[in-house]
Amino acid sequence: MTAPLLEVRDLTVSFDGFKAIDGLSLSILPRSVRVLIGPNGAGKSTLLDTIIGRVRPAQGHIVFQGRDITRTPEYEIVQLGICRKFQAPGILDSLSVFENLALAARHHRPWWSFFRFGLEADLTERVEEILDLIHLRDKRDAPARSLAHGQKQWLEIGMVVASDADLLLLDEPAAGMSHAEVEQTAALVKRLSARHSLIVIDHDMTFVAQLDAPVSVLHMGRLLKEGSLDEVRSDPQVASVYLGRVEEDALGRA
Ligand SMILES: Nc1ncnc2c1ncn2[C@@H]1O[C@H](COP(=O)(O)OP(=O)(O)O)[C@@H](O)[C@H]1O
Ligand SMILES: [Mg+2]
Repeated sequence: MTAPLLEVRDLTVSFDGFKAIDGLSLSILPRSVRVLIGPNGAGKSTLLDTIIGRVRPAQGHIVFQGRDITRTPEYEIVQLGICRKFQAPGILDSLSVFENLALAARHHRPWWSFFRFGLEADLTERVEEILDLIHLRDKRDAPARSLAHGQKQWLEIGMVVASDADLLLLDEPAAGMSHAEVEQTAALVKRLSARHSLIVIDHDMTFVAQLDAPVSVLHMGRLLKEGSLDEVRSDPQVASVYLGRVEEDALGRA
């Protein structure tokens, strides 16, 4: 059996006595995609905040690559290889796509590595690779401000990828995208899973279906159901707390 990359064990997170996460356990395999869905307020973002060390749990453990990181500071967790999609202002508008990626890649290299001969060449090569991966090759030298909304999202994902983290946390990466962009984003996430594990939060069921990955449904800080999208969709409990509402949302957005 493959050892999990990440294990969340019996996690509870309280905000002034309110349990945003309530006894949640979850396990992520290496090079896999896991989708998190659940109604607003279910605790999805809080879970990612807790994994990255921004929020401290009241109870439970988070184990990454066999190491307990429950009390590890955020900057150390990032160094260990977990990266969350950069929050604004992640992208620097006046810099080119290439420069933004290079900055992100450089940011995640330890300072002493710059004394090693050949690192800049390494870094450039990696950034060129990521440009192809995120389909922004022809925007390489364009200022980030000139990108369309979807392309900006891909650049942000590229910046996370540039960290070379083993676990990437993406909170609604396809938000506000056109159908074609959503499809390309799903393909991108799948390509990334050749090298990384990803936890992806999204509301868009078309996107989730295209990811074709196991789904964990959160509700009131608890794990309601885990399985394929078809399995969770056909679960009456999931349908009653969640899917009816999402399909309405999705219609509203289309
Ligand atoms: N920093 C915070 N302080 C107080 N309550 C919070 C905080 N962050 C989140 N919450 C609450 O925790 C619950 C879960 O929020 P969140 O994780 O953002 O849900 P989701 O991402 O699933 O929509 C919500 O009720 C939210 O209001
Ligand atoms: Mg959220």
